[in-house]
Amino acid sequence: MNAAVSPSTQDANAPTWVRHARLKAWVAEIAALTQPDRIEWCDGSQEEYDRLCDMMVKAGTLRRLNPEKRPNSFLAWSDPSDVARVEDRTYICSENKDDAGPTNNWIEPAEMRGTLNGLFEGCMRGRTLYVIPFSMGPLGSPIAHIGVELSDSPYVVVNMRLMTRMGRKVYDVLGEDGEFVPCVHTVGKPLAAGEADVPWPCNDTKYIVHFPETREIWSYGSGYGGNALLGKKCFALRIASNMGRDEGWLAEHMLILGVTSPEGRKMHVAAAFPSACGKTNFAMLIPPASLPGWKISTIGDDIAWIKPGQDGRLYAINPEAGYFGVAPGTNEKTNFNCMASLRENVLFTNVALTDDGDVWWEGMGPAPAHLVDWQGKDWTPDSGRKAAHPNARFTVSAEQNPAIDEAWNDPEGVAIDAFIFGGRRSSTVPLVTEARDWVEGVYMAATMGSETTAAAAGAQGVVRRDPFAMLPFCGYNMSDYFSHWLKLGERVEAAGGKLPSIFCVNWFQTDENGKFVWPGFGENMRVLKWMLERLQGQAQGEENAFGVTPRYDDLTWDGLDFDRARFERITHVDASAWRSELQLHDALFEQLSNRLPAQLRDVKQRLAQRLEN
Ligand code: OXD
Ligand code: MN
Repeated sequence: MNAAVSPSTQDANAPTWVRHARLKAWVAEIAALTQPDRIEWCDGSQEEYDRLCDMMVKAGTLRRLNPEKRPNSFLAWSDPSDVARVEDRTYICSENKDDAGPTNNWIEPAEMRGTLNGLFEGCMRGRTLYVIPFSMGPLGSPIAHIGVELSDSPYVVVNMRLMTRMGRKVYDVLGEDGEFVPCVHTVGKPLAAGEADVPWPCNDTKYIVHFPETREIWSYGSGYGGNALLGKKCFALRIASNMGRDEGWLAEHMLILGVTSPEGRKMHVAAAFPSACGKTNFAMLIPPASLPGWKISTIGDDIAWIKPGQDGRLYAINPEAGYFGVAPGTNEKTNFNCMASLRENVLFTNVALTDDGDVWWEGMGPAPAHLVDWQGKDWTPDSGRKAAHPNARFTVSAEQNPAIDEAWNDPEGVAIDAFIFGGRRSSTVPLVTEARDWVEGVYMAATMGSETTAAAAGAQGVVRRDPFAMLPFCGYNMSDYFSHWLKLGERVEAAGGKLPSIFCVNWFQTDENGKFVWPGFGENMRVLKWMLERLQGQAQGEENAFGVTPRYDDLTWDGLDFDRARFERITHVDASAWRSELQLHDALFEQLSNRLPAQLRDVKQRLAQRLEN
C-alpha cells in the first residue's frame, strides 16, 4: 500500500524512498497552496494502477470494458467541454515578450503568477494530491530529463504510468539533489465538505502556462491529454525546446522509425507532421507485400529529442514510453500494428461503447446497429452525429507495439539519417521533395502549411502555417528556433559531422471530388524507399524550383496500380500556385520579421527567382 497521508508536515510526509529535500519542500509548499485532503506519493506499481482504476470505476470516471473482448481496459468519457488541447489558453511566460515571440500567447510572468496563485489557492480541497515522478527518456539516459507532476487527477496518474517511465525508480536517478522540472496540474474543481464529485471534473477557466526561464509548468482547469499529461507537449516540447536551445540539442514534434532494407541495411528517419496527420500510422507502417524484405520498426510516434553525438551524427530518443493516439480512422488496414497494440491494457477516452462492452469509433469498421456514444447517449448509424469524438484517444504502453524497434529503449538513441516534414495540403505541395542542402531544408520546414485538425479546439480544415509542425509547441520565439536549427547545422558541418538529408512530403493532395489521390499508409513505403536510395546515391530525381523530386520511373510500382498522370498531378510544381504560396511565406516572414534569420529570406529569394526562370 502506498503512503497516503494528510498534508500537514514540512516534508509532506514523503516515504523514506524519497530523499530529495528540495522536492519534498516543494510538494509541501504546493500542498499548502492547493489544500488537498491527502497527499499520495505514487510508486508506479501495478497495484497502484489497478487500485486507482478500480476507484475511478466506482466514481464513474472509467468504465471497465468487457474482459473477454478487451482485457484490463477502460473507457473514459470527458466533459463535452474538455476534449482537446486549448491553444488559445496556452501561455509562454518568458521575462521578455519577444523571447516568446509573435506565435505564442504571452503574459508578464509576475502578473501570471498572481493569477495562478489566486486560481490554485484551495483548488484541490476535497481531493488527493498525487506526486507523480517521471523520466522523459530511458532512465539514466544522457538525453533524458526528469519531471515531477503534482496533480489532483487519478486519470492523469494512470495515463502518466503508460506514457512515461513513471514511479519509484525515478527517485533513484534523482537522488538527493537531482534536477527535475516541476509540473503542477489541477482540474480546478475543489469539493466542498460532503459535495459529490462528477465523473470528469474540470473548469471552464483554463490556463496551460510555461515559465521557460525557471522551467516550470502550471496547468489549470482541464483533465484532457496534452493539457493535463504534462510530460508530453508541455515538458517534452515547450520546456524541452528551451533546454535544447540553451544546450545545443533539439526537442521536436517528430516520430522516429527504423527502416531495414532487404539487404539488411538499417536507417533511421525522424518525421514531423502536425497533430492528427497520421504520425502514429507512419511510425508503425507495414510495407506492401509487393516490396518484399522491407521492414519498418517504431522508436517513437510523436516526439523526438535529438542530440549531436561524438561521431558528428545526430542521435534521437523517444522521450515517451507510450502512445496517446487519435482513435478515429484507425483500423486493421490503416494501422494493423496499432490495432494489435490495442488488444489489452488500454485506456480509451471519448470513443463509443458497444453493447457487448467493447469500443468502437468512426473508421474502425462497420458501424454496429446500436452504441452508446462518447457523451453517454444512445446512438444508431442514422443518428446523424459521430459516435466517437473526432479527437478521441487511446493510451497504451509502447511495449505493446508488435513493430517496436529493438533500440527504442537505448539510452544512447539512434543515429538519424533523414528528416521528413509533411503537412496536410489538398494542393500545391508535391508528394515528395528533397532539399538541396540543410538551409533549404530548414526553409521548407519553416514554411510548412497544414489544414487544421480536431487535435486542438477551434476551426478545422483551415490552412495555417505550421513551421516544423511546432507552431503550438515551440516554447520560445519561432525565429530564434529557426536560427537554432541553422546554427546546429553549421556546428555539425564545421566539426566535419554528417547532417541528415531533409525531405518535404504531402500525402494529402485531393482530386476534383475531394478524394485523396495518393493511397498513403503502407504505400508511403515507396516514397521512403526512394529517400533511402537517394541517401545511398542510388536513386535519381529531377531538380525543380523547390528541390529534387522523383520522376515516375524513379519509384518502384510493383503491385500498385498508380498511373503516370496521377503521379504527375501530385508531383508537378505549378508555378502560379507556387507564386501564391510564396506570398503566404512572405506573410509568415512578415509576422516573424523581428528576429528572422537572413538565410531564410535568401532561400526565399532564390526560390522566387527559380520560379520566374
Ligand atoms: C498530439 C497532438 O496529441 O499533437 O500528439 O495534439
Ligand atoms: Mn503530437
